[in-house]
Amino acid sequence: MQFEVFTLLPEVFPSYLETSIIKRARERGLIRVDVHNIRDYTHDKHHTTDDTPYGGGGGMVMKPEPVFEAVETVLGLASPFDETQDTPPTRPTTASNIPVILLTPQGRVFNQSIAEELSRYPRIALICGRYEGVDERIREHLVTDEISIGDYVLTGGELPALILIDAIARLLPDVLGDPTGAEDDSHAMGLLEYPHYTRPPEFRGVKVPEVLLSGDHAKIEKWRREQALLRTFNKRPDMLEKTELSKADLKFVESLKSTDI
Ligand code: ADE
Repeated sequence: MQFEVFTLLPEVFPSYLETSIIKRARERGLIRVDVHNIRDYTHDKHHTTDDTPYGGGGGMVMKPEPVFEAVETVLGLASPFDETQDTPPTRPTTASNIPVILLTPQGRVFNQSIAEELSRYPRIALICGRYEGVDERIREHLVTDEISIGDYVLTGGELPALILIDAIARLLPDVLGDPTGAEDDSHAMGLLEYPHYTRPPEFRGVKVPEVLLSGDHAKIEKWRREQALLRTFNKRPDMLEKTELSKADLKFVESLKSTDI
């Protein structure tokens, strides 16, 4: 899978992309991340990428020209503007099979199912907003999707872009070392994950639950499922509402409702 990142701060990316699982995935050719400096697509002496907002007010706005030129050049897209028409058309989302995603606090809020949806594309483009915002024509005529990583405002879309890359990359075949991959993740199965333990069996007087040392796989599976349900019940009851539960799960959840935990 190929990620095309458009940013004014390309120097933010290498340290993360050259570390651990993402580094290995790149080296093994499972993902490719190309970071493009929007400033390289300016043509004036000062390489201007932002300007003051029409109508006044504070802050600066990212100019449309370099962003359009960068994305169109890299993705090989034709301009959506037909100079002979008065009104420019909105770029149809099917114009190419490459989602062009603007990272912005105004977007739909990123979650595991959006990560799964995006992991099915062979190539996606991520535009990192900066300053007070981007010229609205970028939003209307270039991007096909807007994504926020949460209801708070960052100084730019660079960290959100890295978060998307990380969450999507680990879903791709062979990226994670474990062959069961991301199947058991919190959120992937609609529940928070059960607790994990490793050696030693006793640490500062706190013992690993007996069942995990029992070697009885059916019992361990049942314990893990119930722990996942218990955690989700306590920490994220909203997730339980949206998850498909078996009869045994429902019975267990009912028992939690009648117990003080
Ligand atoms: N840019 C600034 N804040 C952001 C957020 N919460 N998500 C995505 N992009 C952003």
